[in-house]
Amino acid sequence: MSTSKVKVKLSDRSYDILIGSGLIVDSGRLIKASLPNASRLVVITNDEINKLYGRNLKTSLKEAGFDFAIVTVPAGERYKSLTSANKLYGKLLNFGADRETVIVALGGGVIGDLAGFVAATYMRGIPLVQIPTTLLAQVDSSVGGKTAVNHRLAKNIIGAFYQPQLVIIDPETLRTLSARELRTGLGEVVKYAFISGDPLFEKVKSVLPLTDNISDLVPIIIDCCRFKADVVGEDEHDLGRRAILNYGHTIGHALEAVAGYRQYNHGEAISVGMMGAALVARAKGWLSEDEVQDFKALAGAAGLPLTMKNIDPDKVLEHLKHDKKRTKGSDNFVLLKGRGKPVVSSVDPRVIKETLRCLT
Ligand SMILES: NC(=O)c1ccc[n+]([C@@H]2O[C@H](COP(=O)([O-])OP(=O)(O)OC[C@H]3O[C@@H](n4cnc5c(N)ncnc54)[C@H](O)[C@@H]3O)[C@@H](O)[C@H]2O)c1
Ligand SMILES: [Zn+2]
Repeated sequence: MSTSKVKVKLSDRSYDILIGSGLIVDSGRLIKASLPNASRLVVITNDEINKLYGRNLKTSLKEAGFDFAIVTVPAGERYKSLTSANKLYGKLLNFGADRETVIVALGGGVIGDLAGFVAATYMRGIPLVQIPTTLLAQVDSSVGGKTAVNHRLAKNIIGAFYQPQLVIIDPETLRTLSARELRTGLGEVVKYAFISGDPLFEKVKSVLPLTDNISDLVPIIIDCCRFKADVVGEDEHDLGRRAILNYGHTIGHALEAVAGYRQYNHGEAISVGMMGAALVARAKGWLSEDEVQDFKALAGAAGLPLTMKNIDPDKVLEHLKHDKKRTKGSDNFVLLKGRGKPVVSSVDPRVIKETLRCLT
């Protein structure tokens, strides 16, 4: 199987995202090739993923001659915490990790964010390699250097911008993912289809609804990574253009929170958020009815929701206001002026209120 390479070009350095079926079994060699001085590694993963992919990774790291340890945290968003990070610092110290030791994050966005945060902070930063195993992590969270843990009062509130040295994406890992976990990743894929424009939109449309053939997704994963890499390269620290990656996320985040992070997972919530953003853009005359229908059809084919069920729209509005305070009152609604033309715009609170009602 062929391996594709996407480069993330930062102001001071660049790194590769390697994408190819079966790459996990080759990861030892790939890590050695991009970090020639590395000899010691600590793999951070969770128990579920370790059972599925730990053995293959272990064999590959052994073959490449690494001295390594595999450490696990329990599965789940609630373990993306300072408590987990603290336990991991202890494991790193026991292993004798120094500034040359490499952290390998094997897992979905939870592991990637947590292990990334630990890599960013242990000894003020040690090298990091991401091996994302969920669709969401492969198209989004493993690329771009946002790392974080949650606080009891707010998600992702403690973190650092910390770029990996290498990202290894093996789409074969998606075969063991549940349908719902695949769907949450498709939420981000649909987002890229709308913010990046017609070529990706057409590609995504041609593979939905998904068949069992995971390899259909490979060219799409490559395109999503390429798009995100370009945006991150232009705005590593999220001061401008990177905001477009939050398409659908303003309402989406509020919905996730109001629904207690259970009824809607991230991709499902941002799908509803994108529906809201599409309605606002249509009201402004920026999106045509056909484009709104295209969104509905694509999200529908991905199995994603377009409305919020059993949710009080006023609670979502309250949450949006609360969020706005935290972002110092800035208006961070991403809207489309047509497919592939995202802009950041302010929206009249009355329009938001009305839109939320339309989503119920
Ligand atoms: N850093 C960023 O830029 C960024 C962007 C988006 C989301 N995130 C974060 O990502 C997290 C969500 O990530 P996620 O959706 O990947 O969820 P996740 O990491 O919780 O993974 C979902 C579930 O799938 C399991 N799993 C992972 N890979 C598997 C595989 N190949 N086969 C079978 N099961 C597998 C995990 O053990 C877990 O139970 C959130 O914490 C979110 O804040 C970060
Ligand atoms: Zn997202």
